[in-house]
Amino acid sequence: MTDADAVPFDLASMRKQYRAEGLSESELAATPVEQFARWFQQAATDGGLFEPNAMVVSTADAEGRPSSRTVLLKHFDGRGFVFYTNYGSRKARDLAANPHVALLFPWHPMARQVIVTGTAARTGRDETAAYFRTRPHGSQLGAWASTQSSVVGSRADLDTAYAELAARHPEGEQVPVPPHWGGFRVVPESVEFWQGRENRLHDRLRYTADGAGGWRVERLSP
Ligand SMILES: Cc1cc2nc3c(=O)[nH]c(=O)nc-3n(C[C@H](O)[C@H](O)[C@H](O)COP(=O)(O)O)c2cc1C
Repeated sequence: MTDADAVPFDLASMRKQYRAEGLSESELAATPVEQFARWFQQAATDGGLFEPNAMVVSTADAEGRPSSRTVLLKHFDGRGFVFYTNYGSRKARDLAANPHVALLFPWHPMARQVIVTGTAARTGRDETAAYFRTRPHGSQLGAWASTQSSVVGSRADLDTAYAELAARHPEGEQVPVPPHWGGFRVVPESVEFWQGRENRLHDRLRYTADGAGGWRVERLSP
């Protein structure tokens, strides 16, 4: 195989022309959460997205080494953006050592992305329990069966762990909330709304917390 065979597509020539309608300062909502709600509504209804609440969460460990993964946004409001995960996972260990985090919503079919930076803190146990009870029975068992991010001997080990849990907690029975599982709330420090435009002259409007409960909006060069 030669170098030329390695990539089946001509990636360098793959480019789309983005839409003409932009995002202007005058149409922005007063807060980034309200603006996010508007865009999320559009992404969820006519965005052509499979899972608009899928976001890339980037963390860094105590030495500053970054890592990213996709998780599902499960709630957002003026207090922040909430996702659920295993508290023993790599991302959770990173956040325990370094609470700084970035969230990225890749809404490519709409030529949009939203990038949030902020700090993450664990949700309270009551909030976690309330969400855990809304999950399907199988997902509740899955949260018990997996020691997320640790090496597992085989697929069979995982299936056996799940089968044992399913025998102990049959369908219809209340599954306790795993102590090693719960939510993180990301309190935003900045939120950038990116709208792709023609000729790569995209709109980038960024809200930054002013430290007194308000937001400053700045336009960034594309
Ligand atoms: C579409 C999608 C949604 C996901 N949602 C979650 C989620 O909500 N919570 C979670 O812990 N992992 C979720 N995952 C799995 C994570 O990407 C990741 O594999 C896992 O959390 C372990 O990450 P870590 O080892 O970096 O901590 C999702 C993966 C995909 C592709």
